[in-house]
Amino acid sequence: MSAVSDRPLAAVLVLAAGEGTRMKSRALPKVLHEVCGRSLLGHVLAAAEELAPHQLAVVVGHRRELVTDHLNERHPRARAVVQERQNGTGSAARVAVEALAAEGLELDGTVIVTYGDTPLLTADTLRALAEQHAGQGNGVTVLTAEVPDPTGYGRILRAADGSVTGIVEQRDATAEQRAISEINSGVYAFEGKLLGDALARIGTDNAQGEEYLTDTLEILRAAGHRVGAVVAEDHREILGINDRVQLAEARRLLNDRLLERAMRAGVTVVDPATTWIDVQVSYEQDVLLHPGTRLRGATFLAEGCEVGPDTTLTDTEVGAGATVASSTVERARIGAGATVGPYAYLRGGVELGAKGKVGTFVEVKKSSIGDGAKVPHLAYVGDATIGEGANLGAGTITANWDGVNKSPTVVGRHARVGSNTVLVAPVTVGDGAYTAAGSALNKDVPPGALGVSRAQQRNVAGWVARSRPGTTSAEAAAAALAATAEDGEQA
Ligand code: UD1
Ligand code: CA
Repeated sequence: MSAVSDRPLAAVLVLAAGEGTRMKSRALPKVLHEVCGRSLLGHVLAAAEELAPHQLAVVVGHRRELVTDHLNERHPRARAVVQERQNGTGSAARVAVEALAAEGLELDGTVIVTYGDTPLLTADTLRALAEQHAGQGNGVTVLTAEVPDPTGYGRILRAADGSVTGIVEQRDATAEQRAISEINSGVYAFEGKLLGDALARIGTDNAQGEEYLTDTLEILRAAGHRVGAVVAEDHREILGINDRVQLAEARRLLNDRLLERAMRAGVTVVDPATTWIDVQVSYEQDVLLHPGTRLRGATFLAEGCEVGPDTTLTDTEVGAGATVASSTVERARIGAGATVGPYAYLRGGVELGAKGKVGTFVEVKKSSIGDGAKVPHLAYVGDATIGEGANLGAGTITANWDGVNKSPTVVGRHARVGSNTVLVAPVTVGDGAYTAAGSALNKDVPPGALGVSRAQQRNVAGWVARSRPGTTSAEAAAAALAATAEDGEQA
């Protein structure tokens, strides 16, 4: 690499002050809408942060409080700069440069200017732009793309020798210029020392009466500086989001990209069309994803695990060889070889041990279930600690809430909780203890004891014949009693 291209990346300036009216959103400014687990702006900042610029500034305007809060929370390295009036991309960039200058931060080196609504733009493309820019010693280098339909974009003007002479906006373009299919992506690399002066010289003599950042190309060229261009390999990478149709398109494209990466790393995706994955998801080899799987947040899938169909995992760790089917799981750690579902709901703070089981129609909240412990059917387990090898029978309920306070339940190692037991918390079932089916227990059961709490059974002989005469039940009972009597005679 030449000495020039080793120049530091001085800054990345992200323009995000625009209104985004076409999103038709009262809830969120455009750049805070989400795709694949990150805001549109977050995707741009993640790409920018990979390049480790000295300064990272985001120009905010429309609903700036929300954008600024989002930056403080998720991207504390990025500084918000306010553009009071949104009168053009040129003025937006100028506001950022002036804000940095006001703090004594003079830009020296490459400065990338980009938008907050292009979530598909990669760090690799930004890096290539910065490198070519510095390597060629340009005053400005623009990222361009050949697109099937250039309507609405600024067109790249080139001289007969191929050199870039400027950019003309759709509304200022002649019919001939509108036929040009090479468009301005809105991403540029500038020489920082030249940027402030070029921005100061932008006028508003155009169809929209705005300060066009695109004018800097002609300004720098006229001042004798080199103007370069990098053509993006895939024009879809520069897709800017203006409405929710494009939002869905971007999500689809990003999802495809993330799934392709997963498949190349050894993950089988049975149906990419119905499998959704967030940027932070990580995985090992031989993971199997069935149709209808959604992997959200910082979910991790260990080797050989199997997820789906119709399963949503959020911020969840799935151990090696574990399976999760037709379930919804949030913030859980599922041990190696464990099984979850079908139709389980793990709703936060759940640890399931190795080879443990949470089965059909089971809800678990804020509980730890030990290695090899099983909750196979129809149960609610909340605020509980279940020891290794324990078994909770069908219909077990931890009554963890008395209407005011939550209380814990403890079930010991290798304990056996009978079907339809209500464990009225706080309560402890000791190691190796049993509970009788149908018991409601509000006192501790010592280790090895059987906890029983239910009425004694009593059979009222002949009740059906007396109270339900002539019914099919009475007939069946009479036949059975007659057969028993005969058996008795024969014996
Ligand atoms: C701009 C380019 C055009 C390019 C297109 C690519 C100019 C004059 N035109 O057009 O050549 O093909 O992007 O998408 O630059 N913004 C601010 N403050 C403002 C105005 C805009 O922060 O005062 C931000 C917006 O939030 C938006 C971005 O800049 O993210 C682009 O602004 P927009 O008005 O959409 O520019 P285009 O007309 O699309
Ligand atoms: Ca736009």
